[in-house]
Amino acid sequence: MKVDGVARRSIQLAADGRGVEIVDQTLLPHRFETRELRVLSDATEAISAMRVRGAPLIGATAAYGVALQMREESSDASLQRAIEALLATRPTAVNLSWALDEMRASLRELPPAAREARAYARAAAICDEDVENCRAIGEHGLRLIEALHERRAERGPLNVLTHCNAGWLATVDWGTALAPVYLAHDRGIAIHVWVDETRPRNQGASLTAWELGQHGVSHTVIADNAGGHLMQRGRVDLCITGSDRTTSTGDVCNKIGTYLKALAARDNGVPFYVALPTSSIDWTLSDGLAEIPIEERDGAELSCVRGRNADGDTVEVAVTPASSPVANPAFDVTPARLVTGLITERGVCEASAAGLAGLYPERSAQSASS
Ligand code: MRU
Repeated sequence: MKVDGVARRSIQLAADGRGVEIVDQTLLPHRFETRELRVLSDATEAISAMRVRGAPLIGATAAYGVALQMREESSDASLQRAIEALLATRPTAVNLSWALDEMRASLRELPPAAREARAYARAAAICDEDVENCRAIGEHGLRLIEALHERRAERGPLNVLTHCNAGWLATVDWGTALAPVYLAHDRGIAIHVWVDETRPRNQGASLTAWELGQHGVSHTVIADNAGGHLMQRGRVDLCITGSDRTTSTGDVCNKIGTYLKALAARDNGVPFYVALPTSSIDWTLSDGLAEIPIEERDGAELSCVRGRNADGDTVEVAVTPASSPVANPAFDVTPARLVTGLITERGVCEASAAGLAGLYPERSAQSASS
């Protein structure tokens, strides 16, 4: 996607072909700055501090984290250390363990001297595959948007509600939930996005709004609590969110607050779709509520808000009494029954074991034979 008219990815190799350049997402929307990761600890810090975030981008960064470590030391022990350190950064998005499994599989049989080059090549391939997958998700989602838009063209732009940031900043490029929106906009479909602010870290207000603005897509930031009200008044035609982990039965884990939007959508007859690449599916799980680990983040994310003051300085202010305890679960699980459909790079399916088996027949064959 473009930043000030210049095409770039959220993660890319630095000019020396060894360092890895990321967009520091903690500074957006007020400052666009890139940062170079040079060693493994730069990568673990970037993921833990959420300089990079979003399930697919966490996976891509972890893959490059392994490559950075292979550059320093390519022994078996070093590979294992890198995988363990990266795996410990964030617990919920399954793309992290998926990417690390990919890296381990492509490196472990190689002699140490061959690992650095292979690690960089596999990390680059993971990034390229993510771009292709997100673009394909965009094409499949676009068909849904076109169909809805045709049905109601006389009533102005199609209104899409999204939660958190599942745009290009959350992936390597294009995004998941926002890929269909970008394609629709590029093809001249009148579209408007309701952007949930997404407390406590405000990924909607600061990242989704910034992305959409850079691309010229009409959007309005709303308080997290406003979505249900807008749905009751017929002002939302479609909800699309991303996912950090989806079970083999179609339960969807995503940023905290997604579940409430799905409930409101069901009550108001608004289609609720989830867009995700295959790397976000955890085929080992069948009960999202019982089995998906939910990240608990620092309560300071809730008790304080950060923003820019009138002098242009970034400041943090407290919004809760200092003595009040806070709790900060970062994700929730939307049961499959509330999800209208899953949009993957292979196509759109029902959020159910049967729906996923239809798109991934090789998976049902695997589980039948195991
Ligand atoms: O805590 P974050 O910002 O990493 O959470 C990200 C989300 O919940 C996204 O909506 C999700 O990863 C889908 S990203 C394509």
